[in-house]
Amino acid sequence: MEQLIERVKKSFEKRFGPNPLLIASPGRINLIGEHTDYNEGFVLPGATDRIIVMAVAPRSDRRCLFYSLDFDQEFETDLDHLHNSAERWPDYLQGVLDQFLKAGYRIQGVEIAFGGNVPIGGGMSSSAAVEGGVAFALNHLFHLNLDLLTLTKLTQKAENEFVGVKCGIMDMFTNLHGRPKKVLKIDCRSLEFEYYPFEWEDVLVVISDTLVRRELASSEYNVRRRQCEEGVAILRNYYPLIKSLRDVSLNMLREHQKEFDPVVWKRCAYVVKENERVNLACQDLLRNDLVSFGKRMSESHLGLRDEYEVSSPELNWLVESASSVPGVLGSRMMGAGFGGCTISLVKAQAVEAFKEKVSADYRKKTGKNPAIHLVRIEAGTRIING
Ligand code: GLA
Repeated sequence: MEQLIERVKKSFEKRFGPNPLLIASPGRINLIGEHTDYNEGFVLPGATDRIIVMAVAPRSDRRCLFYSLDFDQEFETDLDHLHNSAERWPDYLQGVLDQFLKAGYRIQGVEIAFGGNVPIGGGMSSSAAVEGGVAFALNHLFHLNLDLLTLTKLTQKAENEFVGVKCGIMDMFTNLHGRPKKVLKIDCRSLEFEYYPFEWEDVLVVISDTLVRRELASSEYNVRRRQCEEGVAILRNYYPLIKSLRDVSLNMLREHQKEFDPVVWKRCAYVVKENERVNLACQDLLRNDLVSFGKRMSESHLGLRDEYEVSSPELNWLVESASSVPGVLGSRMMGAGFGGCTISLVKAQAVEAFKEKVSADYRKKTGKNPAIHLVRIEAGTRIING
């Protein structure tokens, strides 16, 4: 981490000048509760020690100069000409500036250099890490005194409107509200949340990256959203108070199954069951029952694979291989799906065996090594120099 901070700081100073504000903005994991956030349901994510470091300084004019260390690319614009770019990465920064302007906050141009070790586009929300970092920096540098929830909503809107991905609120919420050794149970309807302790010496969180990045994820994501809305519309004929799948029970779904397109029914059943799994998993945590918790993670994967159908062969191979290693408590795909990472809970003494077995199995299937990272649950976006 120290090296990364130094690299970003130096690269900023070389281009823009001394003494930038330095921000650490984390990628997230999600233990359970996938594709529930945009259905006003429950999620159980945490911020991690995989971070983007951002060096930022305000300008006295309206120009905006960005440098991405990971892409080794520069981008220049000004507050009056924000526009979608061919490079795409600048859109995550511009989108946040755009939202601040639309909300009427007084900001000036900025200089930003950033880089990190969150896998890019890999299901750990590198995009929310960029957006959260920019929002946090603007709030600080221009003395706006906005609270974290306001920043969360602004960054989600940036992604929805400027980047054009209709994501839910989980990623930005976690990026900004994370705490060390705690996961957050978020009620994505009321936006109330509770911290749950997540710290075991003998159990680790392991992320396995398929290294597959699929464009499909965003188009299929929007299809899933529509299918969930379709299910709600059918049930609303019978239960007018229903607003989202959050209000639906499995019994209601079963009662009206015949009126559903079978695919839409499966999608809705998955979401209803996944919400229930999150609630039960939180009780497992309070009882320190990680065995039961891990089983729910594995059930979540089966639902994502067979009912919600957002998994992929590569994700399934990783999960199957992980599940065959003694000492693995649970394993599932994480995030939007179709590529990216799996998350596994692994007993500390089994981690080496996990790495060997999962790498060997994945190599046999694909000819590639997966990237395997151990992650710790860490604080949300924060200032790291004073
Ligand atoms: C992506 C979205 C989140 C959430 C997950 C699926 O990460 O950005 O809002 O919907 O997919 O749980």
